[in-house]
Amino acid sequence: MKIITKTEALLAEIKSLKCEGKSIGFVPTMGALHQGHITLVQRSASENDICVVSVFVNPTQFNDATDLERYPRTLEADAKLLESAGCSILFAPEASEIYSSQELSQPFEFDFGGLDEVMEGKFRPGHFNGVVQIVSKLFTIVQPDRAYFGEKDFQQLAIIRRMTTLMQFPVEIIACPIVREPSGLARSSRNELLSAEERTLAAHIHAVLNESLQFATSCPIDDLVSATIAAIERKGTLKVEYYSIVDGNTLQPIEKWEETDYAVGCVTVHCGAVRLIDNIRFK
Ligand code: PAF
Repeated sequence: MKIITKTEALLAEIKSLKCEGKSIGFVPTMGALHQGHITLVQRSASENDICVVSVFVNPTQFNDATDLERYPRTLEADAKLLESAGCSILFAPEASEIYSSQELSQPFEFDFGGLDEVMEGKFRPGHFNGVVQIVSKLFTIVQPDRAYFGEKDFQQLAIIRRMTTLMQFPVEIIACPIVREPSGLARSSRNELLSAEERTLAAHIHAVLNESLQFATSCPIDDLVSATIAAIERKGTLKVEYYSIVDGNTLQPIEKWEETDYAVGCVTVHCGAVRLIDNIRFK
C-alpha cells in the first residue's frame, strides 16, 4: 500500500493508473477506522483494480469546534487496517493540501434541493455544505469509477447522490448496508468515545427501532414516532434529538404509510456527550 500526503503526487499516480486502464474504487473516510469502514474497503478492493482510501478529518463539515477537536485521530492504526483490507493507496493530506485559507473561512454553496433542511441538516447547519465541498474535491482528485458509502449516514448518501448527478461526476455511488456490533449498535468512530456503560445503553437504540418494525404500516406514524422516542428515552440517559420517518428519496417526513413505498426511520440520540445516528428501513 502506498501512503500519499500530497495532492500533486496522488494526481500523478492516478494519471498513470488511468493510462494503464485500471478501474478505481474510492472510500472517503475521516479515519478512526472500524469494521464498518473495512467492509467498504474490502468491497471496493474486490470490485476494482485499485482501491483508494482517503483519511481526512474535514474541518469544514464540523459546526462545533469541540466536536472537531474531540474527533479521534488514529492514522497509524488506520494504515495497518487498510493494508490488510486490500487498500492500494492511502491518501492522508493536511488541510492546507486541500483548502485555501479563503475556502476555510467561507461557507461552500450548493443547491441541496431541500435535502439539507431536515434531520442532520436542521440540527447541524452547514454540515452538509462541508461534506459536499470535500467529497466533490476528492472525486476531482481521485477520479474514481465507483465510490462506497455506508447507509448509516442515510442523509449524507442521498446528498452525495444528488451532488454526483448535479456536478456530473462519472462515478457510480455504491450504498453499503450498516455494519453493527454484536449488540446491534451501529458501528461508528464515535463509539470509541462511549464508556462501557454507555455502550451497553446505546445498543438499546437499534433494539427499539428493530422492535418497531412489527408496528410499521399498522400504527399511525405520529404514534409510532412518539412511542419510539419514549421507548429509547426510557433507558438511562439516552436523549433523542430527532426521530423522523421519511421518504427515502426526498427525505421529507411522511404522515401516512401509503405516501411512499420507501419509508425509513432516521434517529439521532445523545448518549452522554456522544451523538449517535442510526436508521431502519420499514419498506
Ligand atoms: O462519512 C464520513 O466519514 C465523512 O462525512 C466523509 C464522507 C468522509 C466526508 O468527510
